[in-house]
This record gives sequence, C-alpha cells and structure tokens, in this order.
Amino acid sequence: MRLGSASRLEPRTGRSGEGLVFDGVLARRAAGLSTSFPTPHFPSELGEGVVAFDSGFASPEVLPDLTTFAMAALTTHRDETLQYSANQGQPELRRWIADYMNEDGCDLTPDHLMIVNGAKDGLDLVCRLLLDPGDAVVVTAPTYFTCIPIFRSFEAQLLEVAQDDDGIRVDELEALLDSRAQDAKRPHKFVYVVADYHNPAGVSISAERRQALVALAAKRGFFIVEDNPYRRVRFEGPSIPTLKALDREGVVIHTGTFSKLIAPGLRIGWVAAEPELIARLLQLKSDGGTSALLQRIVYEFCRSPAFPDHVERVRRLYVTHRDRMVAAIRREMPDVGVNVPHGGYYLWLTLPASVDGEALARAAAAASVNLIPGSKFYAGTGGFPRNRDDGRSHVRLSYSFATVDDIDEGVSRLARIYQAMRAA
Ligand SMILES: Cc1ncc(COP(=O)(O)O)c(C=O)c1O
Repeated sequence: MRLGSASRLEPRTGRSGEGLVFDGVLARRAAGLSTSFPTPHFPSELGEGVVAFDSGFASPEVLPDLTTFAMAALTTHRDETLQYSANQGQPELRRWIADYMNEDGCDLTPDHLMIVNGAKDGLDLVCRLLLDPGDAVVVTAPTYFTCIPIFRSFEAQLLEVAQDDDGIRVDELEALLDSRAQDAKRPHKFVYVVADYHNPAGVSISAERRQALVALAAKRGFFIVEDNPYRRVRFEGPSIPTLKALDREGVVIHTGTFSKLIAPGLRIGWVAAEPELIARLLQLKSDGGTSALLQRIVYEFCRSPAFPDHVERVRRLYVTHRDRMVAAIRREMPDVGVNVPHGGYYLWLTLPASVDGEALARAAAAASVNLIPGSKFYAGTGGFPRNRDDGRSHVRLSYSFATVDDIDEGVSRLARIYQAMRAA
C-alpha cells in the first residue's frame, strides 16, 4: 500500500495490485500507522492455559455486582439516563468526586471537574487543550506506554526525564528547561506524571519532590498532567498529598478514573482542573457527553455503603496478589531485581545484563505467559541527559488479573525460560 506520496491537492483512493491505496488522503498522524490488528490479549480472547501478566485488567474476583444500581438507573432515573448528558457530566457525580479528591487535601468544587470516558480520554482532551504540532512534552523514563501514542498523535515532541525511587528527577527537569532556554527553545507545554504507584515502575513521587515539581511548574510556566488511577489501590505506606492538592496556581491538571477501583469496562473517569480550563475542555469534548446511564450507575454505587467495603476488598485482593508474585519471583528468579510497590497493579523487574527483556517477553509468550517488555515504556527519543537506559533490561508484570494459582504457574514457566536464557 502506498501512503501519502501524491500531492495533497490530488487525493487518490482506490484498489491497486498493492491493495487499497490512500494517496495524500490520510492525515499525517494516521498515514504511517500499521494496518495489522494487535494480537488478542483481552480476557475474553485468551486461549486456554494462557497466563496474562501483561495488562491492567481487573481481577474478575473484585468486579462488583452493580445490578441494583443499574436497575435504579434504568427505572427511577430513566428520564435522565436514556438522554444525552451534559458535556461536563452529572452534577451529583462531580460533587462526589470533588469530595473524594478533597479527602486527599484538594479544594475542589464540581466546577473544577469534568466527566470523561476514562483517564485515557481525559489525556486525549488535555492534549487537545494544550498541544500544537511540534510542542514539547516531558514524560518520565519509563512512562505509561499508552500515553506515548496519544501524545504522538498530536505531533508532540517527547522528551524523557529520568525517575528514581522518589519519582521524577525534578533537578534534571530543571536542567532540561535551562538547556532548552539556552538553545532558545520554548519550554515544554506539560510534564506527564503518574504520581502514585507508577505504571510500570511502581514508585510514588516523594512529598519533597511533589512540592518541588509544583513550585517549578508555577515558576517556569508549564502544566503538570497528573494521571492518578491507582491512588486508592494503596496497600501500605503514607498517603502523600496529590500534586493537585499542592497546586495553588492552577498548574496541575489531574486525570482520575474508576477503572482501577470499580471496573474498567464502565469507561468513567474525570479531569480536575481550574474552571477556566474546564470551560474550554467542554468545548473540545465532541462525544455528545459521557454515557448518562453509566455515570448514574457509578454515582449510585459510590454513594452506597457497598462502596467502602468494595474498596477494602479490592485492596486486600491485590495486596495478596502482589505478595504472591513477589514471593514467587524471589523464590524462582532470585537474581532478578524486583521492586515492591506499595499499591497499584505492577511489578517492574530488572534483569541481569545477559538477559534481554524483549527476548524474554517473546519466549514467555511462546510458553503462554504474556508480559510486556520494558522497552515499550520508553518514548525512545533520547533522555536528558542523553544515552539513558532504553528499558531492555526490564519487563513489567501485572499481578491484578491472574489468580494466585496462575501467578505461581506463570512465574514458574517464566523462570524456566529465564534460567535457560541465563545459561545460554
Ligand atoms: C497510568 C495509567 N493511566 C491511565 C490508565 C487508563 O485508565 P482508563 O481505563 O480510565 O482509561 C491506566 C490503565 O492501565 C494507567 O495505568
């Protein structure tokens, strides 16, 4: 298939010997994309015996029974739930989320909130708000891999800044700003961070770094996009205020979601930002409003006594899964480095130099254990300073979806492959 070679004044489509031709018709952001479909990995598509350590699916054991809330939504609230909904989202749900975030030290009203179709949709909208082609965006190395194509689809230039056990290196971020200023380049538009229980690295940004990051953003004039899906999936350790809670100047745009706490299939999330930004975001949201039905179901569940009990079950289950996976890895692959996150869904493994993460992930998939090579979590655009780790000495394992027995079985299979690679 030939793509984008003809003049844009003469778009051409049609069939040729090479297949369907789109000459000069597709947008730049779409023209270079692959035309193959991704390998099946959703729970309903998994083959027999496959152990899924690859994605952040919820455990079926903690998917809540929402029947009574859905019944109420479809009967008592039918006039609302089967209509278009307001672009900003239902006021009661926004009030509930404001209170929920205020428990973490924020000072939000429903006007600071907008309901979206999950955090990823929130990120996409934030990009519509902030990015012109060629704008710079800072991501951590490593970063949440799905944000990479989202930011790229807005033709952003991605800059990587390292993180350590205390989260993003704010000193390096400042050095990056200085170096761009010296080269007469504009500062980045925003820095994207996962403040709590980072995906994939599991670390949380320390209290001091949070203060420093928010102060730097206010001083140097960039936004912080705080993506925080795992905050309440906390197992132990202190609850550090969110970046949004520290924000006095309106520089933090926070994306939240019910995917990790209730169910990802609901696709209900939110953006919290200054009302002046929310007002603009509303005009950029073109989906006709997030489903009123699903918002009502979520709201009725969240305000019911079942919700706190549910959150407790979620935490208890995932901490059990984490412990089981950490124990299995320490037992079966004792020379592999493993972080122990205080919350969230993921283990980030550090492999010895002789084992390549991509090769390990490929061999594991052949043995029906799905995991994600670390390199996928790097934007690969050269870090700051340059020549950073490219992620090949890491793999990410998710412990959320697999049962404890599958965790044991999957790690055993992985360990056999790993030991063989190590020996070779
Ligand atoms: C850091 C991060 N942000 C966003 C999401 C996706 O959230 P949502 O399902 O609300 O789009 C995930 C899910 O894995 C995530 O890990």
